[in-house]
Amino acid sequence: MQTRLQEMKESALGQISQVTDSAQLQDLRVKYLGKKGELTELLRGMGSLSPEERPLVGQLVNEVRGALEAAFTQKQSALDEAVLHAKLASQTIDVTLPGRPVPTGTMHPLSRIIEEIEDIFIGLGFEIAEGPEVEMDHFNFEMLNLPKDHPARDMQDSFYMTDEILLRTHTSPVQARTMLKKQGDTPVKIICPGKVYRRDDDDATHSHQFTQIEGLVVDKGIGMSDLKGTLLTFAKQMFGPTQQVRLRPSFFPFTEPSAEVDLQCFNCGGDGCRVCKQTGWIEILGSGMVHPRVLEMAGYNPQEVSGFAFGMGVERIAMLKYGVEDIRHFYTNDVRFLRQFNRG
Ligand code: PHE
Repeated sequence: MQTRLQEMKESALGQISQVTDSAQLQDLRVKYLGKKGELTELLRGMGSLSPEERPLVGQLVNEVRGALEAAFTQKQSALDEAVLHAKLASQTIDVTLPGRPVPTGTMHPLSRIIEEIEDIFIGLGFEIAEGPEVEMDHFNFEMLNLPKDHPARDMQDSFYMTDEILLRTHTSPVQARTMLKKQGDTPVKIICPGKVYRRDDDDATHSHQFTQIEGLVVDKGIGMSDLKGTLLTFAKQMFGPTQQVRLRPSFFPFTEPSAEVDLQCFNCGGDGCRVCKQTGWIEILGSGMVHPRVLEMAGYNPQEVSGFAFGMGVERIAMLKYGVEDIRHFYTNDVRFLRQFNRG
């Protein structure tokens, strides 16, 4: 009996050490220590032992049971630990792996210029106004002193949707819309950036769709000097403190007098070069004193108030500022072009 106990202990310990998961271990536990297990079976045989042998064998049985239980417990915690390790190993993060780059876009150069110009004018007390790109002939032309059949309409070849509706040819209709909304209130001090459309053939300097920024100031006692002062301040902030501007007489039906505004060429400083076509000056916008008829139609008394207005081409300013030689670069969205403007 002692031998059988000893053998059983050996074989049980051997099997326990081979076990690789908890389920197997549990089966073994039942096999040896369970109610119908081998150790229990052996105990039943104790009845046939002599009284002298019994305590000895009893002690041995207890020893074996204790050894097996210890072995089961130890194996169980070894298995638990192994499971935990495997789990941790499978979930480790390799901090040395290079990250996956998230591609970021860049601000479009035109949006950048618009923001820059807006910031300058907001600093001068202007507000930002907006208007529709699909516009009524009434606002695009008539309210700006361009009645039907006025020859100056030819200055801006238009995309008409119907006889009365077109894609706006300039941002000037926002002047009329803003003044009407103000209902005679002063001061009016707005700029309006936005897309405009003309039936031009696209080439390096023309596009059927481009961007303008309109400016309008209406108040008591506004004069041509306010126009020039405002635009000079703008030019210095945009292009540098030594920048000069020049006003040249021009014509627009909605301003009187009208002026074309030139910047001193920043490429040659005014000496004459390829950029300014040897003139020393570069034209950047149209402007003038708001025509009395325009004020009147929009509900203002031209005897009491006056105003100035201007409209500049954003692409033109961006081209000059960044040395872009073809206006079409702004619309074709070649990332190699756009990335150059990603300077934070
Ligand atoms: N709307 C004119 C244009 O597109 C520019 C302009 C605006 C001129 C305001 C004078 C006053 O050509």
